[in-house]
Amino acid sequence: MGILELKTVAQAMLAALCLAMVGVTYGATFTEQFSTFSSDGYHVQVSPDGNEAKIVLDQYAASGFGSKQQFLFGNITMKIKLVPGDSAGTVTAYYLSSDQPAHDELDFEFLGNTSGDPYILQTNVFANGIGGREQRINLWFDPTTEYHTYGVLWNQKQIIFTVDNKPIRLYKNSRDLGIAYPNSKPMGLYASLWNGDSWATQGGLVKTNWTHAPFIVSFKDFSSLDGCVVTDNNISPCTATTTHWWEASAFQTIDRHQAEQILWVKENYEVYDYCKDTKRYPTEPSECARNVPQL
Ligand SMILES: *[C@@H]1O[C@H](CO)[C@@H](O)[C@H](O)[C@H]1NC(C)=O
Ligand SMILES: *[C@@H]1O[C@H](CO)[C@@H](O)[C@H](O)[C@H]1NC(C)=O
Ligand SMILES: *[C@@H]1O[C@H](CO)[C@@H](O)[C@H](O)[C@H]1NC(C)=O
Repeated sequence: MGILELKTVAQAMLAALCLAMVGVTYGATFTEQFSTFSSDGYHVQVSPDGNEAKIVLDQYAASGFGSKQQFLFGNITMKIKLVPGDSAGTVTAYYLSSDQPAHDELDFEFLGNTSGDPYILQTNVFANGIGGREQRINLWFDPTTEYHTYGVLWNQKQIIFTVDNKPIRLYKNSRDLGIAYPNSKPMGLYASLWNGDSWATQGGLVKTNWTHAPFIVSFKDFSSLDGCVVTDNNISPCTATTTHWWEASAFQTIDRHQAEQILWVKENYEVYDYCKDTKRYPTEPSECARNVPQL
């Protein structure tokens, strides 16, 4: 072997090693997974190791970030520590969205409050541009002191919204009832922090107190986006039900324990459910009944 060939072999080995390392760590850091909606280096702040990102809201700007990849189905979770202290008027949004006309969207919106008063977590489901499926709960812990995990287990049969892996909401595929379901549009994952004081806190009565700015929400665990990534707009690898663990029969329904957890949340922490809002929906939307777990 000549010197030149040796160099080539060494380079090939190095390249293979790098590839292997990329394979191991791919998608683990913030910059691998996300692009920010802020270029000033202040309103989105990423830790040097790439494991934590903070969004900063002040009078000058709201901000956020979005995933570089688009997903169709999976177990998509992230850890979030919400704005501490006086967060009244602020809204932390964390959502999957297909971002197109007649879009699909799965929402977590955290509505801030004055110090000591409870946050509200609002979830919503849009399919084919139609939303209006808000549910609101209080949380059973203070979401501002530590990180908690929020996410969805989303497959072709159902969507389970989870908080610390506890199911808080079930949304079944009701296409058999003529209701659109998010099952064909790849969605990006987004997070933002903005001023929503026209509606967020006590229906808009409490305004953002800018003397308490900057408001800061923190995110981590960027490696747990376990979804089917759509490339070149080709969704068929993601709709193939046999290749993805989240389509297994164990995840097509909920078990008794999960049903009990959802009912526990509904009984103790629910503050609003579109299904029960007879002003908006004089007739209960037809998907509602099957989304309440039966014991
Ligand atoms: C804020 O606290 C008040 C008083 O406890 C409560 O009525 C309200 O639902 C809380 N959350 C929001 C987002 O307004
Ligand atoms: C805003 O916060 C400041 C400082 O805590 C306080 O003095 C002021 O009363 C607050 N404003 C409102 C409208 O609550
Ligand atoms: C979904 O992801 C979270 C975070 O990685 C994990 O804790 C949870 O067990 C996963 N869900 C399932 C059903 O595997």
